[in-house]
Amino acid sequence: MYQAKSILQSLLMILFFRFSISTDSITLTQPVKDGDVLVSGGESFALGFFSPRNSSNRYVGIWYNKVSEQTVVWVANRDHPITNSTGILSLDETGNLVLRESTQPFVFWSTNVSGVENNNDVSAQLLDSGNLVLFQGQNREVYSWQSFDHPSNTILPGLKFGIDKKTGMNRMATSWESSGNPGIGEYSFKIETSESTQLFLYKGTTAVWRGGSWTGHGWSGVPEMTQNYLFNVTYTDNNDEVALVYLIRNSSIFSRLVLNESGKVERSTWHDADRRWIVFWSAPKDECDGYNHCGPFGLCDPYKSGTFECDCLPGYEPRSPQDWYLRDASGGCKRKVGTEVCKEGEGFVELARVKVPDTSTARVNMSLGLEACKGLCLRNCTCMGYAVADISGGGRGCVTWYGEMIDTRTYSDGGQSFFIRVDAEELAKYSTNKPKSSHQNPFVIIGLPVIAAGLIISMLICCYIRKKKANQSKREIRLGFSDSLKSMEGSFMEKDFGENVDLHVFDLSTIVAATDNFSFSNKLGEGGFGSVYKGKLLNGQEIAVKRLSQGSGQGMHEFTNEVTLIAKLQHRNLVRLLGYCFHKEEKMLIYEYLPNKGLDSFIFDQEKGCLLDWKKRFLIIRGIVRGLLYLHQDSRLRIIHRDLKASNVLLDADLNPKISDFGMAKIFGSDQDQAITRRVVGTYGYMSPEYAMEGLFSVKSDVYSFGILVLEIISGRKNNSYYLENSVNLVGHVWDLWKQDKALTVVDSSLGDAYDAREILLCIHVGILCVQESATDRPTMTDVAFMLSNRETQLPTPNQPAYIFRQLNYGTDSTTASASCGDGSVYDRSITTVYAR
Ligand SMILES: *[C@@H]1O[C@H](CO)[C@@H](O)[C@H](O)[C@H]1NC(C)=O
Ligand SMILES: *[C@@H]1O[C@H](CO)[C@@H](O)[C@H](O)[C@H]1NC(C)=O
Ligand SMILES: *[C@@H]1O[C@H](CO)[C@@H](O)[C@H](O)[C@H]1NC(C)=O
Ligand SMILES: *[C@@H]1O[C@H](CO)[C@@H](O)[C@H](O)[C@H]1NC(C)=O
Ligand SMILES: *[C@@H]1O[C@H](CO)[C@@H](O)[C@H](O)[C@H]1NC(C)=O
Ligand SMILES: *[C@@H]1O[C@H](CO)[C@@H](O)[C@H](O)[C@H]1NC(C)=O
Ligand SMILES: *[C@@H]1O[C@H](CO)[C@@H](O)[C@H](O)[C@H]1NC(C)=O
Ligand SMILES: *[C@@H]1O[C@H](CO)[C@@H](O)[C@H](O)[C@H]1NC(C)=O
Repeated sequence: MYQAKSILQSLLMILFFRFSISTDSITLTQPVKDGDVLVSGGESFALGFFSPRNSSNRYVGIWYNKVSEQTVVWVANRDHPITNSTGILSLDETGNLVLRESTQPFVFWSTNVSGVENNNDVSAQLLDSGNLVLFQGQNREVYSWQSFDHPSNTILPGLKFGIDKKTGMNRMATSWESSGNPGIGEYSFKIETSESTQLFLYKGTTAVWRGGSWTGHGWSGVPEMTQNYLFNVTYTDNNDEVALVYLIRNSSIFSRLVLNESGKVERSTWHDADRRWIVFWSAPKDECDGYNHCGPFGLCDPYKSGTFECDCLPGYEPRSPQDWYLRDASGGCKRKVGTEVCKEGEGFVELARVKVPDTSTARVNMSLGLEACKGLCLRNCTCMGYAVADISGGGRGCVTWYGEMIDTRTYSDGGQSFFIRVDAEELAKYSTNKPKSSHQNPFVIIGLPVIAAGLIISMLICCYIRKKKANQSKREIRLGFSDSLKSMEGSFMEKDFGENVDLHVFDLSTIVAATDNFSFSNKLGEGGFGSVYKGKLLNGQEIAVKRLSQGSGQGMHEFTNEVTLIAKLQHRNLVRLLGYCFHKEEKMLIYEYLPNKGLDSFIFDQEKGCLLDWKKRFLIIRGIVRGLLYLHQDSRLRIIHRDLKASNVLLDADLNPKISDFGMAKIFGSDQDQAITRRVVGTYGYMSPEYAMEGLFSVKSDVYSFGILVLEIISGRKNNSYYLENSVNLVGHVWDLWKQDKALTVVDSSLGDAYDAREILLCIHVGILCVQESATDRPTMTDVAFMLSNRETQLPTPNQPAYIFRQLNYGTDSTTASASCGDGSVYDRSITTVYAR
């Protein structure tokens, strides 16, 4: 009888606790037991006990309630797991949250704040921001403790990342030990105020990446960061605190910043349709992000052509040329022998687009302007360089460096100008040397005797327009594909002018294992000539395998074409080929894997389109321009892609564009300008009229496709989607609006209002110029690059663009063609039409 009563009692208890899970609060009478879940008011977050993947240990944590993949954002007992499911999180008599086992007195974790006399008003609540807060009185505005003050590896929107100067508390992120263990790992990511305020990523006590100081728009080491459509970023630096807060403008979007177990900081956003987190920014990225990678007075330039990313700052030379030669730059640089500062005629060399050196040894005066800053630096012989402190709103404040300048690097976009003190001789060198490569060289001169600045600027512009000299360091591949596949066992290395092409020949068995025998779940998509699979090599490297279908149009010829071509092309806006696999009828190309798929999956998608704000789209457009420019004229060969389209522009984890799919590319001799082909290949909607109708192709056919792509990126619509207006396709639609001065109405609605109208109009103008009917009217990619980077130039008035769909009769193969015209599903499939002459 007694037993039955106690069973009934426990049943009632269970019912009671089940009932309690609908709440978001912990009270004296409502603890959280293992198995219970608290859900926040708006149902965004949940709190309860969980086990990480591959572990049976129990932890108290907070995770996203609506995200299907378990994503823990905060853990209480990080280093003190409970080994069975008897844990209980409750409020104790001192008004603290305490985690213990129901049978044991041992405390696994507690909030540990000073207790209260009267604990009647004590409670804890999980807020919809993911913050667990503790109240010890009736005032609900005051938290006596909050989980946002003790972040784990995740910085959520609304969390004040940074330092409370009054209490000394630093809200930083610390990595998990491993994916199965949320214990405090070796990496930490934090704001530091010791010498100057900077953002740092540490491994143990060693700095591995410096986010740098706040420059108004963002951190000096995060040039991509800006206010944008998704986020509202607030930075505060006053006597009370230094803090950075991200807010999401749309509360139904989940975004988080995570310091992961491999020491990378990544910001990702949950994409519900794809059921995965999409990473759209991460750091550190390249070698130049490695803290002090090139040593004191070194300059890291990842975009430099040639062998080694390390350079010395102007006026400096390697301390140990031998080590430097062996690619060890840790010794850094020293002032060039025989040069001295504080002499007649000295001045400053400007480095553009850089991350300024570590400001630990720098001085900041916010009330000085750039000119005063220069004067201040010049007057003090120990001053080595200066820069503007806050680059927003035209620039304000002055930073001056004394002593060693470390961790300086260049960026392709963003960054700021940094001025380095050099003597008269060095200054003269920089003012007479023409820049090596117009849009890459970050050197500009600011002399003391201001020698006709205008002259220099016009010189730069001339260099820009002029075709680049052939004597730029270029790679040459002597080994042609015809030298037989057999001779290429293992991997072959080509070394010319120091650049390597390391192309690997993969075994069929390796690829079968990596792709799980080409399983359907690994299939990424269908390309023009076969299927693409995702794979993972034994060493963990992810790859994309393009398996050419046996009956496809891509025969041995296209295959060798693509392999030899891409092996020679290396550019950060082109997809990198890792190797190939060739076995009887099987032909496969192995590429680097890019997690974000094609540009088409973003711009033509209502939801994912929001991830690309205008700034990002503009960067993508300029990236494509650089990639094409490289193909058309910067690489040793003149290459015409012939199938440029949104789905052939892949995005890497940072959403940088990479042009892919060279199966149809044509190599031109340097003296050849156009050619006629009997096989018209390409994709409807992107083909220039002269090419589609006459088989005539030149670089201008790529320019045409590029123009279409630009208009698609701006409008978020495919060229051949139909319109209510009288226009046949996007080009016609844009042209009609352009003539009525209403071009901005075509802008993708997912961009909202957060864009620079002048920039968009410039891009539309350039886009229309690129799709003009007559190939000779269209600009070259060099012209396009110039137009996009010099907004003040007067652009030509466009002539009538080509409406290929209105006029085109595809001749012999008219059934296929007409079926394709209206059918969006085949739009992205490349086609091959034999042109009947
Ligand atoms: C889980 O553990 C097994 C065996 O220790 C291991 O093979 C597997 O890779 C682990 N999985 C994860 C996701 O860590
Ligand atoms: C749970 O584990 C603890 C040791 O961590 C042990 O003392 C306790 O007896 C266990 N409880 C149960 C119910 O197994
Ligand atoms: C928390 O408790 C531990 C041991 O009980 C003590 O050493 C520590 O100072 C306490 N921390 C705070 C912030 O009260
Ligand atoms: C950004 O957030 C701050 C703090 O909530 C607010 O004051 C400000 O108005 C917001 N700015 C924009 C542009 O939404
Ligand atoms: C917020 O995002 C959701 C889903 O991404 C979208 O449906 C909704 O329209 C957005 N709301 C606003 C105000 O932009
Ligand atoms: C950490 O983040 C980087 C950058 O996003 C990613 O490449 C890597 O796979 C992540 N590592 C883990 C263990 O999640
Ligand atoms: C900053 O410069 C101004 C103007 O030269 C000067 O009055 C002020 O003392 C300087 N502040 C500091 C902190 O050096
Ligand atoms: C130069 O600057 C350093 C660092 O600010 C300072 O210690 C030194 O006194 C200055 N020298 C002169 C001559 O102003």
